[in-house]
Amino acid sequence: MADDLMLGVRRGLPDEVAYLRAANPREGWRAAPTFGQLADFWLNVHAQLRREGGAVEALTAGLIDGSIARETFAPRFVAALNQHLGHLDMHHGIEDQSYFPKFRALDVRMAAAFDLLEADHAAVHRMLEETVSSARGLLTALAAGDAPREAEAFAARSGQLIALLDRHLADEEEIVVPAMLVHGERALA
Ligand SMILES: [Fe+2]
Ligand SMILES: [Fe+2]
Repeated sequence: MADDLMLGVRRGLPDEVAYLRAANPREGWRAAPTFGQLADFWLNVHAQLRREGGAVEALTAGLIDGSIARETFAPRFVAALNQHLGHLDMHHGIEDQSYFPKFRALDVRMAAAFDLLEADHAAVHRMLEETVSSARGLLTALAAGDAPREAEAFAARSGQLIALLDRHLADEEEIVVPAMLVHGERALA
């Protein structure tokens, strides 16, 4: 894969990778006659992942600006982070193991897109592990007292994860939704 298409570098997908996008633009997806339950479910899962990431960011920002007390932060943070990262890990696992091979089988031209999306998953997973490690550092420091540096470090790491994830989710949608509209969802069951 070209370096400029790596997650963290690219600003979107080129037309030759998202080759069904121009004929199936995002604005028309939900009104398309072939828009079905799987596409709806997929977009809803992505929206939920974005909301869960936003909840973790809001909690961390609250700790940093003092609007969330240190004493109440840890259990809320652990619950929100576990929900987000567990959901993300499970979603990517299902995509890698179940759905991506089925999309690849639809058309040989899908290969470039799914090579790229699988490489994205590996990059997101590496950042997820760094985020977990940073969260552990924050919780350990908080248990010992105030942790302003650790909170800032976690916010930076989590921000990187969310930026990677936002790019990945948007680009993946531009591959999978047009493919479902064109090929039908029964091919993916
Ligand atoms: Fe994905
Ligand atoms: Fe996804």
